[in-house]
Amino acid sequence: MDADIEKKAAAAKSLDWIRDGMLVGLGSGSTAAHMIRELGKKVADGGLTIKAVPSSDETAELAQNAGIQLLTLEEAGTLDVNIDGADEFDAKLQLIKGGGGAHLREKIVAHNSKFNIVIADSGKQVERLGKFKLPLETIPFATKNIMTELDGMGLSPVLRKKGDDVYRTDEQNYIVDIDVFEQNDLVALNHRLIQIPGVVETGLFLDTTDVIIMGKGEDTVIFE
Ligand code: 5RP
Repeated sequence: MDADIEKKAAAAKSLDWIRDGMLVGLGSGSTAAHMIRELGKKVADGGLTIKAVPSSDETAELAQNAGIQLLTLEEAGTLDVNIDGADEFDAKLQLIKGGGGAHLREKIVAHNSKFNIVIADSGKQVERLGKFKLPLETIPFATKNIMTELDGMGLSPVLRKKGDDVYRTDEQNYIVDIDVFEQNDLVALNHRLIQIPGVVETGLFLDTTDVIIMGKGEDTVIFE
C-alpha cells in the first residue's frame, strides 16, 4: 500500500481529537502536512475555531496558507493537543523523530502539550528502534568534538548535509545522525547524549506520546 495513502488516513483520523476552541500543536513533515491541510479545510468551512503553534518554519508557512491562526508558544502557554509525525515507533509508543530536522521544536511543543498524538504510515512501525538513524541537534561550535566523542561511543556519527552545504535547523544548528540500533537501554543512552555539552536535543521521544494513529491501507489502527 502506498505510504502516502496511509499518511492521509492517519492525518484525517487525528482530527477526531480536535474540539472547538482548542490550542493545537502542529508537527512537521509530510504526514503532519496532510493533517494541517485537512485542519485548514475544517477551519475554512467555518465549523471549527482553533489556534495553533507550529513546530517549524515550514509548518508555520503551510498553516498560514491553510488559513489557520497561529500563536507563538509563549502566547499559547500550554496546548490542548499536539499532532505530529514520526520516523519510527515501537510497541511502547517510543519514537525516533527528526528526519526532517525539526525535532528540537517538536519536542518543545510536545512537552508543552497536554495530549500528544502521533500519526504515521505502517512503514514506521518497528519492533526495535534504530534502523532509522537517530538525529541529534548540535551547536556548530561544538559539533566536531561532539562527533569525535560519539565516534568513541561506537555510534558512527554522520554530519547531515543539504547538497554541498551543512544542513542547518530552524535554530541554525547542525544535525548529527547516529546509529543506535545495537543500543539496549535507550533511556540511559538518551540521558548520556543530552549530557554532552553542545548536544541541544535528541530525536528520541521516549515518554511523550499518548496515542499513535497508524494508517493501514485506507483505514487506521490506534495504539495507546
Ligand atoms: C521531522 C519529523 C517528522 O515527523 C518525521 O520526519 C516524519 O516525517 P514524514 O511524516 O514526512 O514521514 O520528525 O523532524
